[in-house]
Amino acid sequence: MKTRASALAVPPVAVPAYLAQTYWWAYVHPRAVRVFERQWLVNLILWGNFNRLRDAALQALGERLAGSTLQVACVYGDLTQKLCERIGADGRLDVVDVLPVQLDNLARKLSPQAQVGRIQGDSSCLDIAAGTYDRALLFFLLHEQPAEVRRRTLAEALRVVKPGGRVVIVDYHRPAPSNPLYWPMVGILRTLEPYAMDLWEHEISEWLPADGGFLLPDKTLSFGGLYQLLTITKRQS
Ligand SMILES: C[S@@+](CC[C@H](N)C(=O)[O-])C[C@H]1O[C@@H](n2cnc3c(N)ncnc32)[C@H](O)[C@@H]1O
Repeated sequence: MKTRASALAVPPVAVPAYLAQTYWWAYVHPRAVRVFERQWLVNLILWGNFNRLRDAALQALGERLAGSTLQVACVYGDLTQKLCERIGADGRLDVVDVLPVQLDNLARKLSPQAQVGRIQGDSSCLDIAAGTYDRALLFFLLHEQPAEVRRRTLAEALRVVKPGGRVVIVDYHRPAPSNPLYWPMVGILRTLEPYAMDLWEHEISEWLPADGGFLLPDKTLSFGGLYQLLTITKRQS
């Protein structure tokens, strides 16, 4: 497998237009990392739920992670460090992100012993062979992507996991109207995250491949329905 972070001869994958235009302030600008790479801030953005959502995602992946694990997109805060703690001696973790600035930031957060593969690549078009990983994690990525990119990202995550492997997703979900955060979140998401309301209006399963090569997602809601955790298992054959 090519790891773009280390394969200098491979030209960098282009930054998708939606990321450069919509999220330059959060991820692309070098100052973004300096502003947002604070545990308390990412926790605040998730209304104090970062640790709970992180741990739920890790638990859905498994207590001890043998074999190979893919984290699709870097995340501010300590998600990857905590994921590393579950990787067994015989295990391996790769993180793919399209922004070199985010992969460099990840490298600074990890201990030199961590041995995490950093891959510069686009989640909607991975330069990774089918069936490479035992499992994959998408943590608050899908709501940031336009529908067509989201559809391809889901197809790619399912393609690169082995038959019987699982894809774990944590992201936004439409809460009950009685949730006191319903209207504040409508304002925040409509202002800052133009694609996020898709996840309020549709089930993630609507963007899954039509080939049915997976078992129907197992979905859990939390924080009054504002967040969802999905586990999708790829069929054996
Ligand atoms: C996982 S999401 C958001 C996570 C969360 N809000 C946080 O605290 O970081 C952010 C990451 O997704 C990456 N990203 C967005 N679109 C991508 C794509 N098409 N391919 C790979 N990475 C992508 C961005 O570069 C950024 O590092």
